[in-house]
Amino acid sequence: MSVGAIVLAAGQGTRMRSRVPKVLHPLAGRTMLGWVLAAVADAGVEHVVAVIGHGADDVRAALPEGVVPAVQDPQRGTGHAAQVGLDALGQRCDTVLVLCGDTPLLTGELLGRLLAAQGESGAALTVLTAELDDPAAYGRVIRGTDGGVQRVIEARDATPQQLAVREINVGVYAADPAGLRSALDNVGSANAQEEVYLPDALPLLDGPVTALPIDDPAVVLGINTRVELAACEAVLQERLREELMLGGVTMPDPARVHVDVSVRVGPDTVLWPGTALRGDTQIGADCEIGPDVTMIDSAVGDGTTVVASHVVESEIGDGCEVGPYARLRPDSRLAAGARVGTYVETKNAGLGPGARVPHLSYIGDAEIGEYSNIGAGNITANYDGFRKHRTTIGARVKTGSDCVFVAPVRLGDDVMTGAGSIITDDVPDGSLGIARARQSVIEGFTARAAAKARRAAEEASGEGQS
Ligand code: UD1
Ligand code: CA
Repeated sequence: MSVGAIVLAAGQGTRMRSRVPKVLHPLAGRTMLGWVLAAVADAGVEHVVAVIGHGADDVRAALPEGVVPAVQDPQRGTGHAAQVGLDALGQRCDTVLVLCGDTPLLTGELLGRLLAAQGESGAALTVLTAELDDPAAYGRVIRGTDGGVQRVIEARDATPQQLAVREINVGVYAADPAGLRSALDNVGSANAQEEVYLPDALPLLDGPVTALPIDDPAVVLGINTRVELAACEAVLQERLREELMLGGVTMPDPARVHVDVSVRVGPDTVLWPGTALRGDTQIGADCEIGPDVTMIDSAVGDGTTVVASHVVESEIGDGCEVGPYARLRPDSRLAAGARVGTYVETKNAGLGPGARVPHLSYIGDAEIGEYSNIGAGNITANYDGFRKHRTTIGARVKTGSDCVFVAPVRLGDDVMTGAGSIITDDVPDGSLGIARARQSVIEGFTARAAAKARRAAEEASGEGQS
């Protein structure tokens, strides 16, 4: 059986009140439409068409490779959109799934079950349905006396009696494409919105329509507003966290951990509250991450601790310590056992094995060799006002507190620098670099200064009396 899918995504999504097309709003690091397409791919569908219209250029650009765009302009309703999709699909398959781009909680497993039900029943079409306590604006499923599906009536076109029906149309169908195509040809637009409704094709099909009722209504949640966007995000977060926890990750307070879909975390790692792992972030085993850590597109080895820090496009090796209050900007690279401590900012900088920048420093465009220790308050002055330059520091170097390295500058291995030095020249292996004014001591200064002040005050008051 060759299966195709048509994803309807041409609508405007007015109620999102956004410049961004509705289906491109992100959830857990993937667009709404991306979630639907992932479910379709999980179900093993070969030919996929996305019907686009509003924001077509942006939506087309976001489509994964292999998904065929079909433009629906103007948008004359879901039935019309399905026609556009069927045309683009051609004669390629003997079963077609039709679903909406705004239902990101659908799973491949559920779509697989729908396809199986359609295959077994030999019906002209199988529609997913759900019983809702509050069927709201969903289309109501009207069944005949034999229990079969007669039709779906939209809420705005329904009688009070029909509105009382609690079984709703999820908006996901599996059908024989040729049958659906000819039924849609005969659907009119005599309804409240003057649109061609896909569900109106159901009674016109040449064959029975069956329903596949599902018992988890959360799966069918469609997004029309940002409130529903947040509700879907919450469901996806719960799913992703559960997957991680079942894979061996500890979360003492899971509700306060946020992860994107592509995040990977190794076993026995603890994610403390306030942790947000975004993009392509990979974390090894036996780590402690958080509280209060944001990591974007970054990699962490095994046995590393990161506390209260912000990490972007960086690599942290095994057994490292980061934070609290560290900021790792893009292309910060920490080899095994390296440490970046409190109020330290790094950017485009490599720390060798066991290298440490423990306090109050800026390390940008720099390489620091193994087991070197950077004193408190060190700065790499990497910018001359026009261009960036590199600072290279060798192995086993110990810099004093409050040093500035005016790049380009190179310190060899086993170098030391005096506290408060502004290092402008290279320091060769094994040397001390010191660059500061010598201290002078003026003995008895305080008493002399006080006496001078006292005399001045007496003279001033004497003048006042005369
Ligand atoms: C639709 C169903 C309703 C069902 C509900 C489930 C119809 C007429 N009604 O209603 O029975 O309960 O889904 O969520 O089908 N779209 C296009 N082109 C168009 C119109 C819509 O591509 O011309 C797309 C939209 O982008 C959206 C999807 O089709 O992704 C559904 O359209 P929408 O207007 O949201 O239909 P609902 O009112 O939700
Ligand atoms: Ca909808």
